[in-house]
Order: sequence, then C-alpha cells, then structure tokens
Amino acid sequence: MYASLKSIGSFVPKKIMTNKDFEKIVDTSDEWIVQRTGIKERRIAADDQATSDIGALAAIKAIERSNISKEDIDLVICATLSPDHLAMPSTACLISQKAGIRNVMAFDVSAACSGFVYMLSIAKAFIESGAKKNILIVGAEKISPLIDYSDRGTCILFGDGAGAAIIGVTQDKNEAILDVHASADGKYADLLITPGCGSKYPCRAENVNDKLQYIKMSGNEVYKVAVRTLTKDVVDILKTNGITSNEIDLFVPHQANLRIIEAVRNKLNFPAEKTIFTVEKYGNTSAASIPMAINDAYEEGRLKKGDLMLLDTFGGGFTWASALVRFGGN
Ligand code: UT7
Repeated sequence: MYASLKSIGSFVPKKIMTNKDFEKIVDTSDEWIVQRTGIKERRIAADDQATSDIGALAAIKAIERSNISKEDIDLVICATLSPDHLAMPSTACLISQKAGIRNVMAFDVSAACSGFVYMLSIAKAFIESGAKKNILIVGAEKISPLIDYSDRGTCILFGDGAGAAIIGVTQDKNEAILDVHASADGKYADLLITPGCGSKYPCRAENVNDKLQYIKMSGNEVYKVAVRTLTKDVVDILKTNGITSNEIDLFVPHQANLRIIEAVRNKLNFPAEKTIFTVEKYGNTSAASIPMAINDAYEEGRLKKGDLMLLDTFGGGFTWASALVRFGGN
C-alpha cells in the first residue's frame, strides 16, 4: 500500500503588484528586481481574505479534481508561516470549516517554505500505516501583512497564494510518493525570521514600534546556504533511490529566486523544459510555492499520471526537504 498524490489545486488572489509599483515605495528598480530575483509581479490577497480563505479555495479545487468527496477526507493539514491567528485556532481548522469538512483531525505544520514537502512526509506516513485514507494538505500564505514595505531587501520578494493536494491510497508504485527527505537546522534561525509577536518578543507596543513583527532576512547568506542545500538534497534523494536525473519528468524547485533555481538546475544538469518556473509571476509564496507550481504544470498539460516529479525546497528554520513523487491524478 502506497501514498499517492491524487489531485492538485491552487488559488491566486486577483490583485497584482508589479515591480513598477515597488519603484514608487522603495529605492529599487524593475531592472534590479528582475536581474537579482527573476520576479516581475506577485499577488496580494484582499483585506477581507485571510490565509484560511485562500487556502479553502485551493482545497475545494483539489477536492473537485479528485475522485473523492469532502466526506471521504479523514485528515486536514495546513502548512503556513502566515496563519490567520498566532496561537489558535489552527488555520487547518478554519480551512476544514470553510471547505465543508466536518469532524476530522486538523492541524498546522510550521516549516516555512518547506511546509508542503513536510506535509507530504506526514501524509505518506499516515497513509502507509493505514491510519488515514484521504488526506487534504494545503500550503496557504497571506505573507503581505508580515512584510515591512520600507525594507527593499525583503518586500519585493514575497507574494500571497495557496495550493492544495489530496493524498490517497494506491497499490500501484507507478503512481506513488516514492520517497521524502526532510530536515532542519535551528542554528541558522536568525538569518530568516519574524522575531516579534511570539512568546519571545510579544505583541507589545515597543516590539511593534521596532517592527519585530515583520520578516527579516540576511538575503545573501540565505542565498548561499539555499543553493548548497538544495543541490545536495537532490543528489542525496536520487542516489538513495537509485534514480538518475534523466528519469525525472518534472523538476519542481521552491520558487524563491530564479538565480537560485538556475544555479541548482545547472549544477544538476536538469533541462529548462523539464523545470517549472513560476517565480516570475508569483514571487516567493513560501509553503504555497511548490503546490502552486505543480498546479500550473497540471493546468498547462505538462503533468500526466505516472510522471515522476522531483520536489526540492528550502526555507526559514532553516528547513529543507525533497521528494520523489509519481503523479497519481488524471
Ligand atoms: O524562501 C526562503 C529562502 N529565501 C531565499 O532563498 C532568498 C535568498 N536571497 C536572495 O534571493 C537574494 O539574496 C536577494 C534577492 C534577497 C538579494 O540579492 P543579492 O544579490 O544577494 O543582493 P545583496 O543582499 O548582496 O545586496 C546587494 C545590494 C545591496 O546594496 P549595497 O550594500 O551593495 O550598496 C543592497 O542594499 O543590493 C541592494 N539591494 C537592493 N537594491 C535595489 C537590496 N535589495 C534591493 C532592491 N533594489 N530591492
């Protein structure tokens, strides 16, 4: 009995923020942003759309595209760094309610940009142990409220969006999640962090005045560890599974920066035609980045049942993860 990624869906907010829009608020240029990051625009959720709202819309699409109904779902997991509420309820609880899923276990995963691949690992274990049969996993982010729009080093990078998948059971290894590697190292915590509004620097006026509620990043240092780790991750998972890069149908890297994707792709000799790029239109959507990219490949007709995907991600924590997934949907 194997776990299988049976369907994919995403939701993209309507509002587009272009590089030109950033030229009006910080000292930057379209040219700098495109050259250093590959990003041209990103989506921003509406004031009345919280993370659970966009997550639920992605979830509903993934359920519609699967061969199950919402009543069949027995576990809901949401990965996010921008939950609706800091402590409780979990965003997974709210997504369940908004998607009409009742009385099932629901919880959030906190692994920043690696959240979707972390959820694959958890869902795979639940399915293969026989504990659950149909799991909804949602990577959902409304990152815009966590952005300091006066910090040019971070504000241009991130966007809002959501992606979701149904993980079910299969007997067929040709449509199975073959392997997931996930890891973390807290020694890098300060390089990419939202310091405030947790238990360490609570949401008090002095901490908010110091802007501690916003994302802080040492971009250049994160960049170097990201390239090194993402590359090593792929080499390791291919080697462990005796698979060569030629056998991969789709390389789906985390969409943080086009230069990072290209550096990893070139080191591993993956052709551009087999790589998914969405960073140009969405920016970095953290835990939503990988499922949004898979969704776009699916909608473009680039993903067929049985295709072998290689997922590779890296984020705050630091966390990192990779996965070999044969698509189990139609
Ligand atoms: O998803 C989780 C993982 N996150 C990432 O993987 C992000 C990793 N980091 C990056 O993508 C890149 O480091 C950035 C895009 C954030 C920055 O690119 P960089 O080539 O590493 O630039 P830098 O930080 O070394 O800064 C170079 C210069 C600096 O100016 P000085 O000190 O040389 O005068 C920055 O102040 O570029 C300046 N700069 C900007 N200039 C124009 C930083 N941001 C901007 C900006 N527009 N938006």
